[in-house]
Amino acid sequence: MFPRMRRLRQTKVRDMIRETTLTTKDLIYPMFVDERSTKPVPIKSMPGQFRFPLTSIADEVKAVSDLGILAIILFGIPSHKDEIGSSAYDPDGIIQRAVRTIKDEVDIVVITDVCLCEYMTHGHCGVVENGKVLNDPTLEILAKTAVSHAEAGADVVAPSGMMDGMVDAIRTALDDDGFSDMIIMSYAAKYASSFYAPFREAAESGYAFGDRRSYQMDPSNSDEALREVSLDIQEGADIIMVKPALPYLDIIYRVKTEFGVPLAAYNVSGEYAMVKAAAEKGWLDEKEVVMESMLAIKRAGADLILTYFAKEVAEWLR
Ligand code: PBG
Repeated sequence: MFPRMRRLRQTKVRDMIRETTLTTKDLIYPMFVDERSTKPVPIKSMPGQFRFPLTSIADEVKAVSDLGILAIILFGIPSHKDEIGSSAYDPDGIIQRAVRTIKDEVDIVVITDVCLCEYMTHGHCGVVENGKVLNDPTLEILAKTAVSHAEAGADVVAPSGMMDGMVDAIRTALDDDGFSDMIIMSYAAKYASSFYAPFREAAESGYAFGDRRSYQMDPSNSDEALREVSLDIQEGADIIMVKPALPYLDIIYRVKTEFGVPLAAYNVSGEYAMVKAAAEKGWLDEKEVVMESMLAIKRAGADLILTYFAKEVAEWLR
């Protein structure tokens, strides 16, 4: 006699004993809003994704909300870049205006990415001096940016610059300005990944020199991710993010097991582009592959998934 594992796979009992479920509530849809454009501009390396102008962003968010998706994360492409990222904290900057427009028209959770790379002429995530990305002078700018997003009406700020102390600086500034209920979703374990390439086309945030390895994490390291996460929790992060997702399922698993905090995983632009490209060639079934991937990310331990597939997944789940 041997155990018959197949017994439970024969009928709909299969569905009843399923361990992991995916729902539309798990999804966060990343969106790009472009100060310079007047109509949606397709992003070449991310088929199906667009940079939206301020005039149509709210309509698009309405469509996203109508699919049952509860949250979006916004990235801005400003018309003006400089060496201090001043458009990032401008009260009339692209993100601040987009948040106000969206919040006026749609009941949805608005998360804003808090980073400087899109706003800097050199494209790095912090202030640069003599070819070096400086940590502490960057903190003040990030804090000002987060407060300006809060003032515009954002629900969650998501610092993604991987500067040390960024969560502490932002938490302190938000609390001092009366935004103690503002949620921080921190990109705590963000790797220096080649999977971000299409995003850099989308957000025009490619860098003029060097790379991001002096602030983003080395893909070799996993203990270090736990230290990063532990620090961000101490500094006041409410939701922790691991990024990218599929090549880093072990990190998702370790973080969830170790800390048990609300955990988001970012299924990034390169993960999206690979599936789209293979599907276009007819080499993979897009729907099957995407649904399996989403399930895998949740099974590893993520509660939330940031994904460019959010709209399709929501439709498939209906
Ligand atoms: C900004 C930022 C990046 C991504 C999200 N926020 C790019 C980067 O760090 O170079 C990547 C998202 C994606 O690839 O989908 N710091």
